[in-house]
Parts: sequence; structure tokens; C-alpha cells
Amino acid sequence: MKRFIFAILFCLSTMCFAQFDNLTWQIRFDDTLMPENALAASTGTLLEETKPLAFQDGLVELDKIAGRKLHIYAHAVAQCTVTSEEECDYLAGMGVDWWFQCCVNGEVAKSTVENEPGNAAYPPSAENFLFPVHLKKGVNHIALFFERGNGDKWLAAFQLFRKLDPAADADKPFYAVPKLEVMPGRKPRKAYVNRIRKVLAQLADPQIGMHDYDSELARFRKEIDLLNDSDCQAVVICGDMMHRTTRESLTVFQKELARLTLPVFIVAGNHDVGQNSRELFQEFFGPTYYAADLPFEGYRLVVIDTNLWQTPIPQENEKMDAMILRELEAAAAAGKKVILAGHAPIFQEDEDEDEAYYNLPLEKRQWLKTLFGRYPVVAYLAGHSHTAFSVLWNGVLLSNAETTSAAFDKVNYGFRRLVFFGDSVYCNTIPVKE
Ligand SMILES: [Fe+2]
Repeated sequence: MKRFIFAILFCLSTMCFAQFDNLTWQIRFDDTLMPENALAASTGTLLEETKPLAFQDGLVELDKIAGRKLHIYAHAVAQCTVTSEEECDYLAGMGVDWWFQCCVNGEVAKSTVENEPGNAAYPPSAENFLFPVHLKKGVNHIALFFERGNGDKWLAAFQLFRKLDPAADADKPFYAVPKLEVMPGRKPRKAYVNRIRKVLAQLADPQIGMHDYDSELARFRKEIDLLNDSDCQAVVICGDMMHRTTRESLTVFQKELARLTLPVFIVAGNHDVGQNSRELFQEFFGPTYYAADLPFEGYRLVVIDTNLWQTPIPQENEKMDAMILRELEAAAAAGKKVILAGHAPIFQEDEDEDEAYYNLPLEKRQWLKTLFGRYPVVAYLAGHSHTAFSVLWNGVLLSNAETTSAAFDKVNYGFRRLVFFGDSVYCNTIPVKE
């Protein structure tokens, strides 16, 4: 009964103070935005590249505002100004799928990003988290940070309900919420940083035309759609783009690849350069061995042409090995971690197994083992065998990705999502269904 009366009073009071119902918001969707960007936006600093945002009865579907379904862990910051006729405390409410932070005039009013498990309910409502915000007389700046959960829709709720009465409301639980002391420039806590993952997609052997051209092409197209919708920040394709490499077939591949909205790094496979097509492949995709910074901090990708180790080309081999050493030295000096990517796996099951079509020469295995002990290599990515596996070898993850052409191990068609954070790495398969 008590609860019922409170609900009625709550609704009445909401209706009485409806002046903040139609606030004009601007929002920016950008995964690099952090809670402290919302804090900065709440001092009046204008966000750039924004879209208009309006809450309807306190609720909005952020995916609709973004124009497409965004991936889990997507970030956004919204801001608006509120003009108050007097200095007062106001009851605010918020609920988001999944994490949020509300900042007002350079102070954090409420945050679930560091200390709370996330949202209280799905679909969320503005009554999930009630908290006071202090409004000064005149213009106030409010900014909200959102991080997406895995709900079907990315929903967010926010409302300014009513003016608080210091005497009557003093004992209400929401009024007793202590202010969080998060100052501009303060680094997020480690627990939060850990959720800001570095995610790399690893593909192997699209090899369109291997067994069934049409279904392999269809699966590759589907894979591109899944990648564009994923939380991956870059893509490495571990060799063998087409089964037969010709100018026409590479043109088809490149046209499909152009739909990918993520940075992509290509590794040369035996089907790419082993059909007297090395120059043609280079014309389409550039050098077959190279290094590049990944689009997340602290990681360097070194792409190896393992075809050269299996079928050497004098001078080219020396040049490539020198590049690998040079890159490892530079990464170590710069405090970066290194991800190596090649086509052939180092070995299949045992580091001492006989040399074969599907592994590297013993001498190169030994060389890599020595390098892994000396330099900050965290992963070696490969394909070629059309079998998916993960092995930890000398502290380095050897990751052989799933394929969308023939899967000899009969496991899922798909790609691999590698997540790097802190000193850890884990991977899972994103299946590409028929
Ligand atoms: Fe291959």
C-alpha cells in the first residue's frame, strides 16, 4: 500500500514538474569515447559529429538513432543543456542496456561503469536508478555515457522527475546517494579498463572456389556482414583468398572485401602466390611481408610470408627474416606487444613432427621458439590446414582460425574473435551459418 501511494505521488510530482520533458539532446556514437568524455561534455564542451536524440516518455532506442544495430560494448555520449529557474536538487532517473554514467556540470551524479554490475532490468526504465542531481540557477550541462549490452535493442532511459525537497526527501534512499568524486582526467579503474577490450578478427582461407564456388562466396559475404556488425576493430586474413588466383578472381574478391568497414591486413597463402601469381597478388594487395600498427594501442602486427620459408626465394628470405628481427626489436623497445600472422601453422600437433605441407620447416620452428622467448610476442595467427585449433606454446597463443571454404575438421564455418586485454588473450568462434 505504502508503495502504491508512493507511486501515485511519484507520478503526480512528475506531472507537476514537466518543464524538463522535452530536452534537446545531441549524441555521438564512438567506441573510443569513455566515461570521462561524458564528464568533460558536462562542463559544456561541445561534442562533435553528433546526431539529435530525443527521449520519448523517458526512453529511446539508441540503435535507431545510430541508424543500425550496434555491437555489444559500443559506446556513446549524449549531452544537453537545462535551464533552471532556481538552484535546487532534482530527482533524476536512468536505466540503460547496459552501463551508464550521468554527469552534471562537471560532476559525476551516478555511474554504473565502475562499481555496479550494470543495469537492473531489461527493457530498462528511468526508474531503475534514482539519484539526485544538483542544478544551479541558469544554464546547466548534462552529459550521459552509454555502453551497449547484448540486448536485441540498445535501449536507454533518462528522466528528470521532480524537484527534491531537502526536508521531506532527506531520508529517501535516492537522496542519500553520496556524490562520486571522479575528477576530469582521472584514469578509469582497472576493472573498467579491462572491459575496454582490443578485439581482432582472424579469418583463414576464404579460398572461394575450392569445393563449391557459390556457397563459399555466399559464406564470405555473410562473414563480411557479421564482421561489420561485430565489436572487432581490425581483421587479419591468414591467406588463400581465392582457390585459383587470376586477375578476374582477385577482382571478385576485392569487390567483396570493399564492403568491409574495418581495417584489413592480408597474409599471402600458397594459393595466392604459389600459382606464379606473386606479382599479381602484390599488385592487388601490396607486399607479402610487412608490419603495421593495429588500430588499438600497444600492439604491432608483423605479417610473414610463410611461403618463402617453405619454398625459399634467395635474398627475399633474408630480407623478410631481417624485417622480423627489426620489428621485434623495435616493438620491445617501444613497449609494444607483437602479433605475428602467417599462412602455414608452425606445427599441427607436436613441435617435433616431421616437416610437411601443413607446417613450417624445423629450423624455422626453432628460430621462432627462440624469438618467442626473447621478444614480447603474444600470438601467432595462421590458417592453411583448414582445421581450427588453439595451442599455447612457449607463452604464445598459436591460433589457427576457422574457414568459410572447406573445413577439414568438420567444425563450424566462421571466423575467430581474439580478445586482448592486460596480459591475457582469449578467443572464440563466430560461426557463419549456411
Ligand atoms: Fe593454403
